[in-house]
Amino acid sequence: MSLIPLRPLLDHAAQNGYGVCALNVNDMEQIQAIMEAARATQSPVIIQASRGARKFTNDLFLKHLMLAASELYPEIPIVMHQDHGNSPDTCISAIRMGFTSVMMDGSLEDDAKTPSGYDYNVAVTREVVNVAHRFGVSVEGELGCLGSLEHGTGEKEDGHGAEGKLTLDQLLTDPDQAVDFVKRTGIDALAVAMGTSHGAYKFSRKPTGDVLAMTRIEEIHKKIPNCHLVMHGSSSVPQDLVGIINKYGGKIKETYGVPVEEIQRGIRAGVRKINVDTDNRLAITGAIRKAFSDKPEEFDPRYYLAPARAAMQKVCEERMRQFGQAGQAPKVPVVTTDQMAKDYAAGKFGENARPDASAKAHVGKGGGVSAMAH
Ligand code: G3H
Ligand code: 13P
Ligand code: ZN
Repeated sequence: MSLIPLRPLLDHAAQNGYGVCALNVNDMEQIQAIMEAARATQSPVIIQASRGARKFTNDLFLKHLMLAASELYPEIPIVMHQDHGNSPDTCISAIRMGFTSVMMDGSLEDDAKTPSGYDYNVAVTREVVNVAHRFGVSVEGELGCLGSLEHGTGEKEDGHGAEGKLTLDQLLTDPDQAVDFVKRTGIDALAVAMGTSHGAYKFSRKPTGDVLAMTRIEEIHKKIPNCHLVMHGSSSVPQDLVGIINKYGGKIKETYGVPVEEIQRGIRAGVRKINVDTDNRLAITGAIRKAFSDKPEEFDPRYYLAPARAAMQKVCEERMRQFGQAGQAPKVPVVTTDQMAKDYAAGKFGENARPDASAKAHVGKGGGVSAMAH
C-alpha cells in the first residue's frame, strides 16, 4: 500500500468516531516499533518528523525508511507528516521529499519562537494550502500557542516553542477566530491550544479543567463541526515509565501529562489527530537505562536497542487501542496523492479544502519563500 494523505484518514476517523495518534520518529527503530504496533492492532498510522528529526536523520534516509515501511507492511495505511513546519519553505521541501501531509505552524513566526500575528498565520498557512493541495498533500494549521495555563510559558522542543510569557488569549484558541481561520486558509485539520505543551513537564499535578481546558475544544467543535481538530502535546507521561528511568539513574522531576480519558473526551469532540512523542521517548530511555544497568558488560547496540524498540511498540499499541484506531486499517480508503490533487481541484473536499479567495496573499514578515527550509 502506498503512503496516503492525512485528509482521507481523518475523514474516515470522523465518520467512525475514532482518533489517530501521530507518532514522532527520528530513526529506523522507532519506525519499526510503530509499524509492528500497527500490524499487531491493525491500525492506520501517522508517522511524523519534526524539522529536527529531518535534520538528524537526513531526508533521504527518512524517505527510504518510510518507503520500506510501506513495502513491508502493505496492509497498513501510512501518512507521512511534517510536524511543526515553521515556514512555507519547510513545508514545500517536505512535499518535494514525498511527505503526504504537512503542518504549517504559523502560530509562531519562522524563528519558531515568536508568537505571530493572526494575519501572518492566515497568510503563510494559506500559501502552503495553495501549493500542497495541488500535489494532493494535506495541510494542518495551528491557531493559538501551545503552552501551560499554570505558568503561561511554552515548553521548547528542539528549539521549537513560544518564548516568554504568553497571554491567556494566546494560550487558548478563540472559537470564533477558528471559524474564520479555517474558512480563510482551507486547511484539512486544525491544531488548537487549550493548555497542553510539548515535553514531559506539562502539569505540576494531575490536570483539572482550569489547566487543561477540554471545554475549549468542545466549544470549537460546536462552531466548526466539520473540521478535524488536532491535539499537540498529548503525551500522558505515564508514572511507571518515569519510574523506570529514575530507578536506573535518571533524574526526571515530578510531573504529569494529559490523561488518556481527557484525550478520549477530545475524540468525542472532534479531535482526530493526537500528537505523541514524549511517551515514546520515555519508554525508550527507560529500557536503555535498564539494559545498561542489567548488563554493564554488554556493548552490542542490539542488546539495548531491541528492548527500547519493544518498549516503544508497547506504548504505541496502547495508544492505538485507547484512541480507537485499532482494527481500522483494512477499512481506511486508500487514496493516492494524485487522486487527492484531482479531488481538491474538483472541490470534493468542500469549502474547508479551498482557501477563501478573499484572503490576502502573504507579504508579511519572515514567512516568504526566502525563509530557511530547515
Ligand atoms: O514538536 C514536538 C515533537 O516532540 C518533536 O520534537 O522537535 O525535538 O524532534 P523534536
Ligand atoms: P508530546 O511532547 O506531549 O509527546 O507532544 C508531541 C507533539 O505535540 C509533537 O508535535
Ligand atoms: Zn506539537
